[in-house]
Amino acid sequence: MSTSTPGQAAAHSAHRKATALATAAAVGGFLFGFDSSVINGAVDAIEGQFDLNSTVTGLVVAIALLGCALGAWSGGKLADRWGRTHVMVLGAVLFFASSILSAIAWSAWDLALWRFMAGVGIGIASVIAPAYIAEIAPAVMRGRLGSLQQLAITVGIFAALLSDQILATAAGGAANELWFGWEAWRWMFLVAVVPAAVYGILALRMPESPRYLVTKGQDDDARRVLSSVLGPEEDVDARISEIRHSISKDEQNADLGSLKGDRFGLKPIVWVGIVMAIFQQFVGINVIFYYSTTLWQAVGFDESQAFLVSTITAVTNVAVTFIAIALIDKVGRRPLLLIGSAGMAVSLGLMAVCFTQATGSGDTISLPDPWSIVALVAANAFVVFFGATWGPLMWVLLGEMFPNRIRAAALGVGAAANWIANFVITLTFPPMLDTFGPAIPYLMYAVFAALSFFFVLGKIPETKGVELEDMAGEAYKRT
Ligand code: GLC
Repeated sequence: MSTSTPGQAAAHSAHRKATALATAAAVGGFLFGFDSSVINGAVDAIEGQFDLNSTVTGLVVAIALLGCALGAWSGGKLADRWGRTHVMVLGAVLFFASSILSAIAWSAWDLALWRFMAGVGIGIASVIAPAYIAEIAPAVMRGRLGSLQQLAITVGIFAALLSDQILATAAGGAANELWFGWEAWRWMFLVAVVPAAVYGILALRMPESPRYLVTKGQDDDARRVLSSVLGPEEDVDARISEIRHSISKDEQNADLGSLKGDRFGLKPIVWVGIVMAIFQQFVGINVIFYYSTTLWQAVGFDESQAFLVSTITAVTNVAVTFIAIALIDKVGRRPLLLIGSAGMAVSLGLMAVCFTQATGSGDTISLPDPWSIVALVAANAFVVFFGATWGPLMWVLLGEMFPNRIRAAALGVGAAANWIANFVITLTFPPMLDTFGPAIPYLMYAVFAALSFFFVLGKIPETKGVELEDMAGEAYKRT
C-alpha cells in the first residue's frame, strides 16, 4: 500500500508530467544525434557515386555543421518571436524535408544544400530542447531533465550507426549497393523521416513554455502549464509575478542587442557561455565519433572489428549519460565539470603518449602492443568522462544559466559557437594527422581539457537548484 500523502502524490504526478514534456522535447536531441552521424555510413558511397575529390567530400560532410551554427543562432531569436513549440515544428519540417531531398539527391551540389538544410534543423533542435526543458522543469529536477537531451543525442548517434550498418548489410554489404531499387546510402537518409514526423507531431501537441507565455501576456495559459508541472507546494501566482519581474517590460524581446555589455562587447555571462561551448568541442570528442574507423584500425582492429568497437563506444556514450542524470541535481554542475575536465585531460594525455609510439601515416597508422591496449582503454575512458560530465552539462547550463530576458538569444549564440568549434575540429583533424601524426592533435585536446578545468574553477556559476528567475544574481556572481 502506498504511504504517500495526497500532497506528495500530486507532486509526483506533476513531476511525471514535467518528465514527459522534457522527454518529448528531447526527441529533438535524437534527431540531432541521428542526423549528424548518419552521413558516416554513407560518405564513401557518395564519394564514389558522384566521383568526388576529397575536398568536395569534406564539404558535403562538414557543410551540415555550418547549417547547425545558423540554425542555432537564428533558432534562439525565433523562439522568442514565435514561441518554443512553433520553432520545434519548424525544426521537424526541416528534418523531414531534408531527409527526403537528401535521399533523392542527383548531384553532390544539391546534396550539400540538403545537408545544410538538415544542419539548420539540427541547430534549431540543439537550442530549443535546452530552452524548453529548462523553462518547464521544476528547479529541483532541472539538471536531470535537461540531461535527457544528451541521452537522446547519444541514442541518436547509436541508432544512426546501427541503421547505417543494417541498411548496408541488407543491400549486400556496402552503402553503394542497391536495395529495392535505391542505393543503401539513400535509405540511410530517408529513415530520418520517421523520427522527424514523431517530433513534429509531439511539438504540435506540447504546451507552450510558461516563461514565453508570460512575456506575451498570456498569464492564464502560463498558469495552467505551471500548475500542471510544478506540483501543489509551489505558489504558481508568485512564480508568474517573479517571471514578469525578471523580464523588464522594455526588453521583452531578447534580441541580440540585449546581450551587449554596459560599456563594450558582450555581457560577461554570454562570454562564459561561448567559451564553455567552445571547450566542449575543443576536447575533440567528435574526432572519436566522426573518425572512429581510423582510430580503431590504428589500435589494431580490422574494418569489421572496428564497427564492433564503434558500437561499444556508442553504447558506452549512452550508458554514462545516466551518471550525469543521477548526480547533476545532487552534487551540482561545477564538481561534475571539474571531474570531467581532469579525467579528460588525463585520458587524452595518455592517448597522446601512446600515439608517440605510432608507425605509418593516414589510414595505415598502427600502434604496437601494449600501447594499442592502453590507447583503446584511454579513448573509452575519455568518452566516459565526457559523456558523464561535459556532454550533457554544457547543454544543461546553456539552457539555464542566462537571465530570462536574454536566455533564448544567449543560448543561440553559445550553441552557434559550439557548432562552429565542432566544424573547426572536424575540418582540422585530417590535415593535422597528415602533418604532425596522431600524437599532436590528442595532446592539443588534452591541453584544452586541462584549460577547461581552470575555466570552470574561475568562471562557471553553480546553478543547481537556483530558480531561473534568480539566475541574474547567481550567474553574475562569478563573472
Ligand atoms: C555532445 C556534443 C556533441 C557530441 C555528443 C557526443 O552533445 O555537443 O557535439 O557529438 O555530445 O555524445
